[in-house]
Amino acid sequence: MNRRQFISYSGIGLAAVAGLSMLDPLAQLPVMSQGKLRNSVKEMHDDISYLLYMASLAPSGHNVQPWTVRLIDKDHWMLGTDATRWLPVVDPQNRETLISIGAFLENLIASAGVKGYEVEVEVVAKSTKDKEVVQIKLHKIGRPISFDVKKIELRRTVRNYFLKEKLSKEDVNFLTGENGDSVFYWARESKEGKYLTERTLLANKLQTYHNAAQEELAKWIRWSKRDSLHYRSGLTPETMEIEGVAKWYVENFYSNQSALTPGFREETIKRVQEQVAAGSGWLLITSKDSSIPELIDTGRKLQRMWLKVRDREIAIHPMNQMLEEESLRDEIAPALGITDKAQILLRIGYIRDYPQPISPRMPLANIMLG
Ligand SMILES: Cc1cc2nc3c(=O)[nH]c(=O)nc-3n(C[C@H](O)[C@H](O)[C@H](O)COP(=O)(O)O)c2cc1C
Repeated sequence: MNRRQFISYSGIGLAAVAGLSMLDPLAQLPVMSQGKLRNSVKEMHDDISYLLYMASLAPSGHNVQPWTVRLIDKDHWMLGTDATRWLPVVDPQNRETLISIGAFLENLIASAGVKGYEVEVEVVAKSTKDKEVVQIKLHKIGRPISFDVKKIELRRTVRNYFLKEKLSKEDVNFLTGENGDSVFYWARESKEGKYLTERTLLANKLQTYHNAAQEELAKWIRWSKRDSLHYRSGLTPETMEIEGVAKWYVENFYSNQSALTPGFREETIKRVQEQVAAGSGWLLITSKDSSIPELIDTGRKLQRMWLKVRDREIAIHPMNQMLEEESLRDEIAPALGITDKAQILLRIGYIRDYPQPISPRMPLANIMLG
């Protein structure tokens, strides 16, 4: 099935033209909103659109949404990455790209279960730069697997208003229990917690004054509403949690080059300083090595954890700069007494009034390869 056929079956094209809401799944899936459809072919196409939409709500560094999908057949897909959405400066080996692909896959598997499909997964990429990464086959099992899909729809990155209170023992177990050998937690006030706070701040300073990294970031910031509606990817003032007059100012007066000004860089460091001073502590996900299956598995683990924290009013803020900066990356494991590879570092903490997701997503047509 080619991209044009798929788009015309699923109605995705219509939604894109209509410029409907950036986050409303039904806005992207008008066919689904028309009630019960008896035609099984149509049902399968509705399922494809639904599963891809749910998968695309996964997190990704700078919200680049690196995933692509090629439909070989209705139940046989190739999941890959788009080189124009890689981050070669901060993620030269595509480590974070593959973690994001893992998160996409986890959303896909969870929502496929709800629709009565089992997902067969085969990693086909030999290099982290291969465009085709995972082969997927959907098998109808008939009996749906129970899972609350609202968890996928409501998951989001939170950056501000973390409380300072400690994570309860029960919540630490809840987060690390299942994966005790690859998920580690340190309270902010512990020796390790203080180390991670200090190094994350340092890594942010290094990155903020690293022009190539800042230029790469600038490319993915959508200051104006117009740009954010146009691209439906990247970081917006809302997702960066810039509020009040400052938000109005950046929306109206900032341009791509603004991320390179001394004022923006100073403001970034100030915000990071405030962020790392709050929250309960740090969560680190490790893996045996940085092979492609391990990175994808890390992304799946990350997403499984992220999907279950909202019910406990726990917020997650990935702060991965320390693992992106070459001069700091190698010291983290020995400093924390870990033998495996550190893959993603998350600031974690309780929050009151969990905010709604607001990060834009591209129309599915943009991720489908024809
Ligand atoms: C591998 C990875 C690395 C990330 N690194 C950072 C980071 O260093 N700082 C940050 O603020 N957000 C980081 N994020 C969060 C993304 O910016 C966020 O997922 C994206 O903007 C989409 O927003 P959402 O999670 O609310 O859907 C990261 C996410 C992933 C998956």
